[in-house]
Amino acid sequence: MTTNRTFTMIKPDAVANGHIGAIINDITKAGFKIIAMKYTQLSPEKAGEFYAVHKERPFYNDLVSFMSSGPIVAAILEKDNAIEEFRKLIGSTNPAEAAEGTIRQKYAKSIDANAIHGSDSDENAQIEGDFFFAADERF
Ligand code: RTP
Ligand code: MG
Repeated sequence: MTTNRTFTMIKPDAVANGHIGAIINDITKAGFKIIAMKYTQLSPEKAGEFYAVHKERPFYNDLVSFMSSGPIVAAILEKDNAIEEFRKLIGSTNPAEAAEGTIRQKYAKSIDANAIHGSDSDENAQIEGDFFFAADERF
């Protein structure tokens, strides 16, 4: 399993609030290379499938409806130690606890609308990238 790729989504709140450009700028300035990128919208069914690991959690229904509420930007990113480095760049799940200068601290308003997703493991980065991108959509 490779350790140099992660998967991200710029979530509906950050897209609606006009932060796509600033967030992509932060990501590339932090040294991540874009391998694939897509502007799209998840159906409730697709969002439910994507977050199926959280099915039993109390916030699952809200999460699925939020993630399908508007367009997102999905991307596969590459950098050494990508998973850990990217989680550091985006900050804590709850933006109120996110470190200064992180993407969630700068652009997220709440734990539900928290601007950006980052994979939590190499295995999930692979699964999530495959969920959005075919082999010939990666560069
Ligand atoms: P993500 O998967 O979106 O990158 O977020 P994460 O790893 O930081 O957090 P995770 O535990 O995977 O949860 C997925 C999303 O569910 C919402 N959540 N709400 N109310 C709550 O306690 C709670 N916990 C999680 C967040 O929007 C989180 O991004
Ligand atoms: Mg997660």
